[in-house]
Amino acid sequence: MSVRIAPSLLSADFSRIAQEIRDVEQAGADLLHLDIMDGHFVPNLTFGPPIVNSLARDAQIPLDAHLMVTDPDALIPGLAAAGVARIAVHVETCPHLQRTLQNILDSGIEAGVAVNPASALTMIEDALPWLDFVLIMSVNPGFGGQDFIPGSIEKVRRLRRMAGNSLDISVDGGVCRDNAADLVSAGATTLIAGSEIFGTADRAHSIAVLRQSADHGESR
Ligand code: DX5
Ligand code: ZN
Repeated sequence: MSVRIAPSLLSADFSRIAQEIRDVEQAGADLLHLDIMDGHFVPNLTFGPPIVNSLARDAQIPLDAHLMVTDPDALIPGLAAAGVARIAVHVETCPHLQRTLQNILDSGIEAGVAVNPASALTMIEDALPWLDFVLIMSVNPGFGGQDFIPGSIEKVRRLRRMAGNSLDISVDGGVCRDNAADLVSAGATTLIAGSEIFGTADRAHSIAVLRQSADHGESR
């Protein structure tokens, strides 16, 4: 599985979002990561299905929705109608995780679960049969531009051992050129990056550097 790069639009300039999307697509981004926050599960507030619907009209590459909300089930139909390709719900918000994942799968969408830095991998172990991907949070969710929590690399390695080779392991939070190789060599297959890509003027260069670092990790 070759490593995918998913720019997180949270750090993009929303006043020129269509151009931002075009820039990262032309630079070879594989997915567009959308951070949906409700101001309850996390302190920040972003956007919901109507805006995702508009973004879907601008985007050519698949949309990857990361739900940081206390009631993810309520958003699944709207996101499905908007045409997202993947939805990750947080394990911390889903008392009936299998049912929520089945809802996502029944909508024809890839199902994922996001795991906060201090949440144990054992919480998702029995859900693996319903999971297309796991999103390892390498910061506490809510904001872009936070420092990467180094123990996340070991967590990715443990998850890879637990899940086998077919699961996509995505990593989100503080991902940058300095940790991409270690993450990939530990087993990460999708790198989500906000400030590393949108924090510089040349998005194409940032993506190229990130990919180079991921390639190094893959060849180890
Ligand atoms: C954080 C979000 C991330 C965020 C990553 O809660 O889930 O997707 O945009 O931003 P960086 O890469 O700047 O940490
Ligand atoms: Zn995210």
